[in-house]
Amino acid sequence: MKDYGKYFKKPSLKDARKRVEDTGYIDFTLADKYKLLGEGKKYFIQTYGCQGNEADSERMAGILEAMGFCSADIQDDADIILVNTCAVRDNAENRAFGEMGRLKKFKKTNPDLLLGICGCMPQEENVVNRLLEKYPYIDLIFGTHNIYKLPEYVQSAYLSKERVVEVFSHEGNIVENIPTIRENEHKAWINIMYGCDEFCTYCIVPYTRGSERSRDKDSIISEVKKLVSSGYKEITLLGQNVNAYGQDFDDEYSFASLLRDLDKTGIDRIRFTTSHPRDLTIHTINAMAECNSVMNHIHLPVQSGSDEILNKMNRKYTRDDYLKLVHKLREAMPDISITTDIIVGFPNESDSDFQDTLTLVEEAGFEGAFTFIYSKREGTPAAKYEDTVSNEIKKNRLNKLIDKVNTMYLKGNKRFENKIVKVLADSVSKNDDSVLSGYSEHNKLVNFKGSKSQIGNIVEVYITEAKTWHMIGEVK
Ligand code: SAH
Ligand code: SF4
Ligand code: F3S
Repeated sequence: MKDYGKYFKKPSLKDARKRVEDTGYIDFTLADKYKLLGEGKKYFIQTYGCQGNEADSERMAGILEAMGFCSADIQDDADIILVNTCAVRDNAENRAFGEMGRLKKFKKTNPDLLLGICGCMPQEENVVNRLLEKYPYIDLIFGTHNIYKLPEYVQSAYLSKERVVEVFSHEGNIVENIPTIRENEHKAWINIMYGCDEFCTYCIVPYTRGSERSRDKDSIISEVKKLVSSGYKEITLLGQNVNAYGQDFDDEYSFASLLRDLDKTGIDRIRFTTSHPRDLTIHTINAMAECNSVMNHIHLPVQSGSDEILNKMNRKYTRDDYLKLVHKLREAMPDISITTDIIVGFPNESDSDFQDTLTLVEEAGFEGAFTFIYSKREGTPAAKYEDTVSNEIKKNRLNKLIDKVNTMYLKGNKRFENKIVKVLADSVSKNDDSVLSGYSEHNKLVNFKGSKSQIGNIVEVYITEAKTWHMIGEVK
C-alpha cells in the first residue's frame, strides 16, 4: 500500500460553512514536466450528480489529455479511473461507494492502475474517514476546489508512489482557461458561477461547493463566442443559483445583463440551470422574454407547497410568492414551460403540508418535476430536526406525487400535438437508427424520423403524438 506523501489534507464541514470574500481569478497553465506524463496511457472518468459535475469531468478530461492521456472506452482499458461523485442524497453516495468497491478488481489485473475519487463526496469529513479506513486501495482523493491540481496529484501518485488525499474546505480562486474536452459537439455547458450561499437547511451543496462566486463576464462572453465560431448551437449556463450571478460584483451587472450580452453572440439557444425563486428578478424575466436565443423554459425548484415546510427549509419565499413569480413568467412569456424540483418527507412534513404540495403542482402548471424523498445530510441543520414520519408514508407520498407529475408531463406535451416545434437534433435512437431525438425549445424530448446528417442542426418537426415522457413527430 502506498504511503501518504506531501498531500494530506482532510475536509472540515465547520470550515466549509464559513464565507470569505476574497475570490480572485487565476489562469490554468500546464508545466512542461507534466506534458508527457500520460503518454501511452488511457483515462476513464465516471460521473455522478448534476451538470456541474459533468462540466468538471469535461475539464478533468481536458487536463488529462493535455498531459498526454487518451480516453478509454471501457474501464478495463484504463490506466487511471476517476469517479466524480455527488453527495446530495444518500442513494447517490451509496452508488459511488458501490462503484469504488467494484473497481478494486481492476487493481488486481493492473497493479499500476490509479484509482481516484473526487467531486462532492470527498468534501465531507465522514466520507473521507470511511474511504481512508475501508478503501485503502484508492490512490487519489480530492474535492471540488482543486481539480486544477490534478497534474501534480497524478505525478505524485505515479512517480513517488504516494497516496494523495487533499481536500480544501475553502474555495480559493476561480481558475480560468482549464482545457476542456466537451462531450457534445453542438451543446456546451458553461459555468457562470460556482458555489451556493443559500444554505437551504436540507442541502449539503453550500458545504461541498463553497461560497457563491461569479466568473468574469468577459471570460464567459469570449468562451461563448469561440463556441459559436466552432459551430455550437446551444449553451446551458450553469450555477447552483444562476439568478445570483453578479451579486458579488461591485457594479450593477446581473444575470439579466449577461443573458442580454450572450444573446448578441450569435448562439442559437441559451438555457440555464438552476434558478432559485428568491433571486429571480423582473429584469431576468424581461431579458428572457426579449432575447430570442433564450429558450422558453425555466427550471425553478419549489421544493414544497407548504409555507411551514418552506420556512423550515430556509427557502426564503412563500407559496404565494412562488405563484406570483409563475404568474409574472407567464405574463411575459405566455407559452413558457415551467419545471421544478420537489422534496417529500422533509422532517415532520404533515399530510396537509403534502396536500399543499400536490395542489401547488396543479396551480403552478408544472410540466415536469424531479421528485425526491428527503435524505438526511450530516452537518446540515435539518439533520437535527425531529422526524416522526415513517418511510412507508414518505414512499406513499412520493408515489402520489409522481402520479400527479406524470399527468402534468403529459398535459404539457399534449399542447404541442399537431404543431411544429424546433428541435436540436442530438442523436440517433438506440433502438432504431432511422429515428433521431432531440429537445424542443420548451425542453421537450422529441423523437422523429430523420437521417444522421441532421444531427447538430435545428430541425422543424411536426408533432403527431404526445406521450408522457416524449413527443413523436415528423420532419416538415
Ligand atoms: N441548486 C439547485 C439544486 C441543487 S440539488 C437549486 O436549488 O435549485 C438538486 C435538487 O436536489 C434540489 O433542488 C432538491 O430538490 C434536491 N435535494 C437537495 N438536497 C436534498 C436532500 N437532502 N434530500 C433530498 N433531496 C435533496
Ligand atoms: Fe442547495 Fe438550496 Fe443551494 Fe440549491 S439553493 S444548492 S437546494 S442550498
Ligand atoms: Fe451533487 Fe455536488 Fe451537484 S452534491 S448535485 S454533484 S453540486
